[in-house]
Amino acid sequence: MIQHDPLRHIINNIGLVESCNPIDKALVMHCSSKVNELKNLYRINWQEQIEYNSADCQTAYMIYYFPNYIETMYHTLIKVETNAINGSFKENMKICIMGGGPAPELYGFLAYLKENFPGIKKIESHFFDKNNWENWRQFCFDNFIEEYWGSGKIVYYKHHICDLCKLHETYEIESLPIIKEADLLIIQNCGLDIYTSLHDIGKYRQVFNNLIQAMKPGSIIVIIDVVVYNVISGNWFETRGNLHHIRDMAQSNYNCTVLRDVSNGNPYRYTPNIIEHPIIRDNFPFKGDVKYHALVMRKTT
Ligand SMILES: C[S@@+](CC[C@H](N)C(=O)[O-])C[C@H]1O[C@@H](n2cnc3c(N)ncnc32)[C@H](O)[C@@H]1O
Repeated sequence: MIQHDPLRHIINNIGLVESCNPIDKALVMHCSSKVNELKNLYRINWQEQIEYNSADCQTAYMIYYFPNYIETMYHTLIKVETNAINGSFKENMKICIMGGGPAPELYGFLAYLKENFPGIKKIESHFFDKNNWENWRQFCFDNFIEEYWGSGKIVYYKHHICDLCKLHETYEIESLPIIKEADLLIIQNCGLDIYTSLHDIGKYRQVFNNLIQAMKPGSIIVIIDVVVYNVISGNWFETRGNLHHIRDMAQSNYNCTVLRDVSNGNPYRYTPNIIEHPIIRDNFPFKGDVKYHALVMRKTT
């Protein structure tokens, strides 16, 4: 993906500046401790649910994770034959982003559309999340739609508060009628959260089964999860195995065609191509590549 600069706006919005002024320094230190807390929650205390509704948690996510996760959707789709998705990606297409938080996946998707489907100028997007990210999401719409997709393009959007875990036992969630009409469903980096809420691999898989059941024929689902390693227990969250299972289940329960398969070996990876800002490099360094597993499927009938 071409070089992009999400951090410029985020830094300004938070008010992060390199200076000797004690107030500025205190803000940087505060954010740095919140970023470290969040990193530890992902890497050490998996079992704990993350307080995504808290302003500090959201700020930490925007500084450290959001910029680096924009490209995941782009790199995932770029490896799919455009012919295979032609029919589903169209003018006025309806997309659902599940567990999107501030929705970095939207901007990777728009960058992909810009390069591969330049004729599309309007999409309708629905965001389903258990937590309220509306302020940051709005900030991102205002600053990034044009930057990633170009001028004259329109994203209609609607926010829905919705607990995806309920899908393991019921279809009666508000999102279902919209999911049934969607051309594209994206669920990126939400698997671990769903698993830690349910504590049960069978229920976790049922959530995905029921999502796929709800999809209309011809629609596409993209499931992405970054690789998570627990530094204390030495365990990986079994992203690859879970996606293999979801793929096999979707193919045997429904008529699904795999458009991009889960890796059988190492995760896919990329180095985020984002413009560096000294205040981020010096205080919130992101080390290494983003490693992730991804599965893209079309429901055929
Ligand atoms: C790690 S963030 C991922 C955000 C974004 N998709 C990304 O790739 O950066 C997980 C998101 O899932 C949401 N989430 C967690 N559990 C959920 C649930 N049971 N139902 C709906 N959303 C959930 C959180 O609020 C958060 O926005």
